[in-house]
Amino acid sequence: ADETPHWRPAVRFSPERDWLNDPNGLVFFDGEYHLFGQHNPYGDQWGNMSWLHAVSTDLVRWEQLPVALEPDELGAIYSGSAVVDHHDTSGFFGGKPGLVAIYTSAGETQQQCIAHSADRGRTWTKHAGNPVIPNPGVEDFRDPKVFWHAPTGRWVLLVAAGDRIGIYGSANLREWEQLSEFGAEHGSHGGVWECPDLFELPVDGDPGRTRWVLIVSINPGGPAGGSATQYFTGDFDGTAFTSDGPADEVRWVDRGADFYAPQSFSDVSDGRRLWLGWTSNWDYAEAIPTSPWRGMMSTPRELGLVPAGDGVALVQRPVAELSAVRANRRAWRGSLADGTGAEFRGSAVDVVATFRIGTASVVGVDVFAGPGGRTRVGYDAAAGELFVDRTDAGGTRVSEKFPACHTTPLIVDEGVLDLRVVADRSCVEVFAADGRAVMTDLVFPDPGSDRIAPFAAGGRAEVEVEVFDLTP
Ligand code: FRU
Repeated sequence: ADETPHWRPAVRFSPERDWLNDPNGLVFFDGEYHLFGQHNPYGDQWGNMSWLHAVSTDLVRWEQLPVALEPDELGAIYSGSAVVDHHDTSGFFGGKPGLVAIYTSAGETQQQCIAHSADRGRTWTKHAGNPVIPNPGVEDFRDPKVFWHAPTGRWVLLVAAGDRIGIYGSANLREWEQLSEFGAEHGSHGGVWECPDLFELPVDGDPGRTRWVLIVSINPGGPAGGSATQYFTGDFDGTAFTSDGPADEVRWVDRGADFYAPQSFSDVSDGRRLWLGWTSNWDYAEAIPTSPWRGMMSTPRELGLVPAGDGVALVQRPVAELSAVRANRRAWRGSLADGTGAEFRGSAVDVVATFRIGTASVVGVDVFAGPGGRTRVGYDAAAGELFVDRTDAGGTRVSEKFPACHTTPLIVDEGVLDLRVVADRSCVEVFAADGRAVMTDLVFPDPGSDRIAPFAAGGRAEVEVEVFDLTP
């Protein structure tokens, strides 16, 4: 039974019980989205790493299935990806399409292995020729992400190797040759590089202008402490990635503390680039106070690129499917000043607000508010910063590193801020300026702390706000 039902999220995946970390094997196939994930089937701490499995037809309601991959003589099953082998390049499927999972076996060394499934991911056969990429003599060598590169007609694999990303190519998913590497001189090296991804995105939705986005998680070294995910934009010619920005540029995908190891879905049939991440941080993941489960995923997000300065920037928005489970719309428009405004209630809500900042110095929305605390999501106009403040979020102590106010720089146009807050029982995900600034933070409010209130401080602001319950 759930011992902490008030913290069980409504619209994102959480396991029935036991430990969960990174998303793995995200793939769309035959009408279903598959979510695999780093899982300990025997406890609520990291260990016995296996791939949990869940499926969904709408990205919001997930059905958990039996564990897909368990440790074997090559070691534990660490993070990896999955693809649809549409034309049976692997020869595993007798000419039909099937699913291939590419994962790290973590035993004496870390090596890349594959498994295949001809029954929509329900059962898996590990390849007899594993490992398909043996360890080249390095300690960290993991988290393979594979995609089909149509212009060169081959599979491309990225693997995290300590302080860099190795890029490999293959015709059949079984035999791989190294093509290039990237990163020893680029980006942030505050921690080990993990969980890479690489995909092409249109700029402003224009298919005639695209850039490639390389994703690299690092632990530690994140801007909010602990683990976090950086990105590079650039070009990929089928062999090597070249970054648009200077080598020392560091860009983060999410400036909250709790969005790690995100991975994009392979083979999404409508062409959207969708991803989700693990909603936690290695600084305190093992101290998260939920039971009998520990660890959850973010809501799935749609990715895009927008022009920014001389280049482009990544934007993220909750998937459109989330709007389909909105109910009980409440709305208010009016003037906010210190201590005046409107108030709503809810603990799994989608809040959509537009602020005209006026003379106020800070505007925002309090969520999970009650006698024991609140989580404040706001914009500090003078500092030019969006923030999530969970210093006073409730009586539950997670760890010394947990209480904090996280910030991200944001300049808004003409004093107008659009803010969307998906507050779901024990998590807030904040999307501002149409997804240009994004923050994800866990919070553990006291049961019953469900007040939601837009606010302005230091002056007067105008707001239009809608609040929806999220009811899958
Ligand atoms: C990232 C990570 C991966 C590894 C997995 C092990 O959170 O450390 O690099 O494959 O978790 O569970």
